[in-house]
Amino acid sequence: MRIGPHLIAPNVILAPMAGVTDRPFRQLCRRLGAGLAVSEMTTSDPRLWHTEKSRLRMDHRGEDAPVTVQIAGYDPSMMADAARYNADQGAQIIDLNMGCPAKKVCRVDAGSALLKDAGLVAAICSAVTRAVDVPVTLKIRTGYSRAQRNAVAIARLAEDSGIAALTVHGRTREDQYEGEAEYETIAAVKQAVRIPVIANGDVGSAEQARAVLQATGADAVMVGRGALGNPWVFREIAGFLATGRKPPQPDPAEVGATLLGHLDELHEFYGPGRGLRVARKHIQWYCQDHPGSETLWATVNRVECAQAQRALVAGFFGSGVCARAA
Ligand SMILES: Cc1cc2nc3c(=O)[nH]c(=O)nc-3n(C[C@H](O)[C@H](O)[C@H](O)COP(=O)(O)O)c2cc1C
Repeated sequence: MRIGPHLIAPNVILAPMAGVTDRPFRQLCRRLGAGLAVSEMTTSDPRLWHTEKSRLRMDHRGEDAPVTVQIAGYDPSMMADAARYNADQGAQIIDLNMGCPAKKVCRVDAGSALLKDAGLVAAICSAVTRAVDVPVTLKIRTGYSRAQRNAVAIARLAEDSGIAALTVHGRTREDQYEGEAEYETIAAVKQAVRIPVIANGDVGSAEQARAVLQATGADAVMVGRGALGNPWVFREIAGFLATGRKPPQPDPAEVGATLLGHLDELHEFYGPGRGLRVARKHIQWYCQDHPGSETLWATVNRVECAQAQRALVAGFFGSGVCARAA
């Protein structure tokens, strides 16, 4: 799949996830096979660009190309300025967030709330594509509500506004994360436009990835929650799509070594205090399927020193108690 000048291979992509897809996690997923990794959303409000949170979200040092930055907002000219600013900071693809149902985003009529207003979607897409030389992609849901499932209409006007590729999450805004993703609407979007379409929603294994690609005709799949504590999902999907065979699951030694490397990068990226807190949820996700994880979790959650956190995780994986349950 191509997005503008960029070849995206393999065609499995890490979804933008606020609080998760920071630079350390994006780099890890790229190393393990993701063809593209989208940043956490950054705000289009310039008053917030100099906060510590925005500074870290705009940090792309050492990232593999194409660096992809998602921006959230609702005002066409602010979104255009934000796109320009991020392109100047190194973004090689700008992604527009019209998929997030979070109240913080939707209260100000941003994220998936924008799907209610097709005219505003077109104005934002046109303003941003005119503002930057890099390709602009759009991430949407299938509609605002089941009664207003307008993804096909939005996809057509996005294409007409210069959008280079479109991601569709197979739920409406009203569905939040409930029920199962549906792929018929994604298939209809793929039929309706010539730009690449990326299918998203409930893809967490190689078999699901293949089934969703077959059901939708999409050019790529995007994985969000399936990558939490399991960055190997990209290796698994990419390997399976290429050869029809799944690479072996990581053994506990590989899980431990990868998690420790991830912790080191989080501690360095955020600094030991904040890094320790961000790392906690990752430790829980990586370890949840391993015997003894409740005991580890209870202890890790109380530790207030990055080195002690690391030592506990090293001890857990070094002791052999974490061998995967058969
Ligand atoms: C913790 C979390 C944070 C998310 N943050 C964003 C975001 O910043 N921008 C966005 O477009 N979608 C966001 N999403 C939605 C995901 O990108 C994705 O569309 C959704 O989780 C469905 O894919 P999945 O079933 O593979 O998880 C977020 C999802 C989760 C679970």
